[in-house]
Amino acid sequence: MSGQAKLELIDVHKSYARGKKRHPVLASISLTVREGEFVTLLGPSGSGKSTLFRLIGGVERPDGGTVLIGGADTTGQRGHISYMPQQASLFPWQSVAGNIASALATAGIERRRAAALAAEWLERIGLGEVADEYPQVLSGGMQQRVSFLRALLMPRSVMCLDEPFAALDALTRAEMQAWLLRLWEEERRSVLFVTHSIEEALTLSDRIYVLSRAPATVLREIEVPFERPRRADVWKEPAFVALKEDILALLERGEGRG
Ligand SMILES: Nc1ncnc2c1ncn2[C@@H]1O[C@H](COP(=O)(O)OP(=O)(O)OP(=O)(O)O)[C@@H](O)[C@H]1O
Ligand SMILES: [Mg+2]
Repeated sequence: MSGQAKLELIDVHKSYARGKKRHPVLASISLTVREGEFVTLLGPSGSGKSTLFRLIGGVERPDGGTVLIGGADTTGQRGHISYMPQQASLFPWQSVAGNIASALATAGIERRRAAALAAEWLERIGLGEVADEYPQVLSGGMQQRVSFLRALLMPRSVMCLDEPFAALDALTRAEMQAWLLRLWEEERRSVLFVTHSIEEALTLSDRIYVLSRAPATVLREIEVPFERPRRADVWKEPAFVALKEDILALLERGEGRG
């Protein structure tokens, strides 16, 4: 296996209080994202994927286990990853371009350069016309694209994307996937990605972790065998269809091999 681990989770577990009881969400999660690797988490709704992202981002602390970023223990610490939450969280008092530029400035990019980057990239993803609008006037899908762009431009070594394309129509989604694929293949960022779409996972990823229902464990780790640069129509390959059926069966059974 090549590449050093950029992100490593070791036996991360988490439960929440529900009434008087504890509700275990993550039983024990261990996984890695190597340098320049695109890794996807697939798992049922409520299996703790967004929770895991909050733990990686240091917004919350795990009950136990370790989060390592670039080899350093960052458990419970913020500011190490770029993170796109499942609900686009744009500041309502800043323009679309301002939201991106101010995040970049906070991360240490010089203000004028941050503004120029925001303008250039909004144009590139077809949102140039709404750069000066406030987020409230954008559709949900447009807000999601802005939030995605903000995460993409943050100068961090690990990027965590929580269902970035969920609110998009099929055509826009396919366009954004193709665009992310091209961009990622040029820049090779280390990405941890969440989606409910098995096709999306197989099209984009180097590896996939399939999670069980809560309390979640890793059911299976899958190496995606398709060559890079990956073709957008890789879904036509018989091996793709077979893998997709495998994963679907695994999710339906909800248990690992053996
Ligand atoms: N702050 C919290 N307090 C109490 N329970 C929580 C909290 N955050 C999440 N949960 C519970 O943890 C479980 C996992 O939630 P999470 O949002 O991580 O799931 P998910 O895998 O991201 O689901 P989806 O695919 O629907 O986005 C759910 O049962 C949820 O109710
Ligand atoms: Mg979620």
